[in-house]
Amino acid sequence: MRELSLHILDIVQNSISAQASFIEIIIQEDDKNNSMTIEITDNGRGMSKELLEKVTNPFITTRKTRKVGLGISLFKAACERCNGKFYIDSKLGEGTKIYVSFEKNHIDRAPLGDMANTIIILILSNEKIDYLYKHSLNENEFILDTREVRKVLGTVPLNNMEVIDWIKGNVLDGLSEMKKSK
Ligand SMILES: Nc1ncnc2c1ncn2[C@@H]1O[C@H](COP(=O)(O)OP(=O)(O)O)[C@@H](O)[C@H]1O
Ligand SMILES: [Mg+2]
Repeated sequence: MRELSLHILDIVQNSISAQASFIEIIIQEDDKNNSMTIEITDNGRGMSKELLEKVTNPFITTRKTRKVGLGISLFKAACERCNGKFYIDSKLGEGTKIYVSFEKNHIDRAPLGDMANTIIILILSNEKIDYLYKHSLNENEFILDTREVRKVLGTVPLNNMEVIDWIKGNVLDGLSEMKKSK
């Protein structure tokens, strides 16, 4: 995939399919260590040991509509191409965590892509799910926690268009601030 945000979207869609109600997306960029890490954690239904062992193999899927499951194995391949590490842990009934790292300046590392739109797409796809998006670049950090946004909103739903616009602006401004003060 051309952008890491597309992998993130794909991995989080697995969490949504697994009935998660809370999903964490943590991105850490560290120029001194030339590293970029992405961690996605959900509280969905989790996987059995058997499935977990097989899930990084591109021909495993529990979908009925298509025979190959590619999302996880593509993400793994993308990070390993950049001398990174892949890690997955999952417990039935508890949830799943996927971690990938990249050499940040590796020639094959795809750009991150559009995180503001990625978050918006996720919120619009299911209003009930909460997200914690944490993104750090060296000493600086941006955080969006939809649980906090909900507290301010009261009865207004997260997928209200004005709220969506505000969230999008908040992510765009927050990330550009983070980069500026780098
Ligand atoms: N977060 C998750 N929680 C529970 N099961 C998951 C999760 N992510 C992946 N899986 C399981 O692993 C399988 C493979 O996932 P993936 O590689 O993304 O392929 P696909 O989504 O096309 O099936 C899924 O079909 C699902 O059964
Ligand atoms: Mg998938």
